[in-house]
Amino acid sequence: MKLATKYIHAGTEPDPSTGAIMTPIYQTSTYVQEAPGVNKGYEYARSQNPTRKALEDAYAQIENGKYGLAFSSGVAATDAVIKLLAPGDEVIAANDMYGGTYRLFTKVFAKFGIRFTYVDTTDAANISKAISPATKLIWIETPTNPLMNITDIAAVAAIAKKANVLLCVDNTFASPYLQNPLDLGADIVMHSATKYLGGHSDVIQGCLVMNDANLREQLYFIQKSCGAVPGPQDCFLVLRGIKTLHVRMQRHCENGEKIAHFLRNHPKVGKVYWCGFTDHPGYAVAGKQMRGFGGMMSFELKDDSAETARKVLAGTKVFALAESLGGVESLINHPASMTHASIPREERIKNGLSDSLIRLSVGIEDVDDLIADLNQAIG
Ligand SMILES: Cc1ncc(COP(=O)(O)O)c(C=O)c1O
Repeated sequence: MKLATKYIHAGTEPDPSTGAIMTPIYQTSTYVQEAPGVNKGYEYARSQNPTRKALEDAYAQIENGKYGLAFSSGVAATDAVIKLLAPGDEVIAANDMYGGTYRLFTKVFAKFGIRFTYVDTTDAANISKAISPATKLIWIETPTNPLMNITDIAAVAAIAKKANVLLCVDNTFASPYLQNPLDLGADIVMHSATKYLGGHSDVIQGCLVMNDANLREQLYFIQKSCGAVPGPQDCFLVLRGIKTLHVRMQRHCENGEKIAHFLRNHPKVGKVYWCGFTDHPGYAVAGKQMRGFGGMMSFELKDDSAETARKVLAGTKVFALAESLGGVESLINHPASMTHASIPREERIKNGLSDSLIRLSVGIEDVDDLIADLNQAIG
């Protein structure tokens, strides 16, 4: 089935009781049983909910996986993956990734005895070198938030397989429309569904997709035992968002390409980070594993002061100054003080995330308005 057809029909069947074409919002906490243990497969809504089930099936289908699990946020999905581990286990993680993931690893899980080693995963050899007998999981993000670094998923999957280590890929920036990590050998794909999957900046949610039944059982056990499940209304919103993923992503990609080139040609703009440039270090790998380059990018101004960056951030009228990404509306963000503020400055700078870096989530408005807006704000 082609992507457009899959996204519109994924997970949804006409409702058996009424024929409703959209999966109803089953707003219930429990289900009446005919006799103790005799039920229609639903007992208590932390464990199962029909709206969530439709969405979890959709997640599996759009990521070419067998099983999907929905969580109350992207970080709750990440949290569930780390809970597969035990004290003493080690995770090799990318040194450039979403600040909240870094915070969860360093501030929450490190104190439970799980060890995290951060490496530059754009060179898969760094991962091979870092693997030890204690390594149980490799965690990568590609493209990364916010520097748009690219990691070769198939190369890392081969390393993980050889070392008998799980590979989880945060696929939030690409979305399933542009990249499917399970097809490239990953064990788990994770999304902040808050972003492109929901697509309308009106829901917080996360998901995991996998092929292995045993892994699914372990993660389902964590999902129901720890209870970070999304409500049915939120599941409905993401189910609806997925139906237009392809149309939105096409426009995100078109607008993204035009804006990346506009920025690169602007006399006041310094480095532009966008993986669709042919001279981007990850271009060849991105071209191999992605179907397009998306609408996320970051840039620095030639006048590299935080002050000048702040003026641009305050000066846009169509781009809204806000955290998050992947919605239909364009957003502008200052990673150093917003999305990545939880990473110590020294660590940030070492990994190339400067104080003046500006991140854009290019929306699906008319691109001429977006370019005019950036032009007047940059001055
Ligand atoms: C790449 C990436 N992964 C994970 C998350 C966390 O997702 P959530 O905010 O839905 O918990 C985010 C949020 O910005 C993100 O950008």
